[in-house]
Amino acid sequence: MTPEDPRPASCEALEPAARAVLSEAAYHYYAGGADDETTLRANRAAFERFYLRPRVLRDVSEVDTSVELLGERLSMPILLAPTAFQRLAHAEGEKASARAARAAGTLMVASTLSTTPIEEVAAAAPGPLWFQLYVFRQRDITRALVERAEAAGCTAICLTVTVPVQGNRERDTRTGFRLPPELEMANFAGLRQAAFPDDAAGSGLAAFIGREFDPTLTWGAVEWLRSITRLPIVLKGIVTPEDAALAVEHGADAVIVSNHGGRQLDCAEPTLLALPRVAQAVAGRIPVLMDGGIRRGTDVAKALALGARAVLVGRPVLWGLAVDGQAGVERVLDMLGGELRRTLALLGRPSVRALDASAITEIPGLILPPR
Ligand code: FNR
Ligand code: LAC
Repeated sequence: MTPEDPRPASCEALEPAARAVLSEAAYHYYAGGADDETTLRANRAAFERFYLRPRVLRDVSEVDTSVELLGERLSMPILLAPTAFQRLAHAEGEKASARAARAAGTLMVASTLSTTPIEEVAAAAPGPLWFQLYVFRQRDITRALVERAEAAGCTAICLTVTVPVQGNRERDTRTGFRLPPELEMANFAGLRQAAFPDDAAGSGLAAFIGREFDPTLTWGAVEWLRSITRLPIVLKGIVTPEDAALAVEHGADAVIVSNHGGRQLDCAEPTLLALPRVAQAVAGRIPVLMDGGIRRGTDVAKALALGARAVLVGRPVLWGLAVDGQAGVERVLDMLGGELRRTLALLGRPSVRALDASAITEIPGLILPPR
């Protein structure tokens, strides 16, 4: 008899364990989506519309999951998506996640709305680190953020374009989502932007975003960003071929197919279905990444087979962080990486480069671009 391993064995199994240790408001902020959460569910359900096509009798004794991305070699095509307020999950918050990413040989995207200043996140885990940017109505604040990210050693700026206004998150309205008094938006220490407006009913974050984020943004913002930074620019939230073409035209160095984990426009198309069309429009000119609903190594394989160079993972990282800090995040990355390795072996594709459209098939009724 072998002793039982009491730890959750999958990303999905981690969620209830995390819920047990999180405050009610923090859990619902992390877990929730917009309106009826149609897209939140659809992001997951989309993976069931595809099956994998294993090839057999190929030597899979060595499996290579490594991938090259914007000049960096990563151990696996799985990145940590930017998520706000990680110290709600664990005292070490963003530092623990960054260290876990480093330990796993991959990278984290640090959120503008971090509860740890970008300098401290970067110092906690030297190595590739991307900075996720929200553009504030006060452009000088935004410019200062970009300069600080660059000075701290960040290796790319990830401009999120899915939040001109906040999605309608009814769970946060119900809980009256606030940050506890000991936490702040640490990139804005000393400024009004460090805290939610204190007079707002319902979600404090919704009030904050309404007051601070710039809803006038256009494609000109990409050019503005280019004029103030030498770093590669990654556009997060491209879900149509039309916008993918514009992203390439405006000089983006990569795009992320993302609907913000179903937290913004409800009834937006699930990202796995948007991905092949975006990849087709981009036609290999820049890397295409995706996020939304990645919970298993097979999910990663499906995204890669449909044209993604890499994927990002949001909520499971928060679950791991809540349950066991850095070790919990390492566990999430270890599970996903291990699952991907096993999936590649069972698929008869011993490297991620070998994953192409021949590795996947759709259930009838879904129209993919011609191969
Ligand atoms: C996010 N996301 C996000 N995105 C971003 O660009 N900046 C941010 O600050 C945040 N904050 C944030 C908080 C929480 C609690 C969640 C769940 C998500 C979106 C995130 O980067 C990613 O797009 C989705 O989380 C991916 O979907 P999954 O993996 O959570 O299904
Ligand atoms: C969110 C914002 C902060 O999804 O990006 O909560």
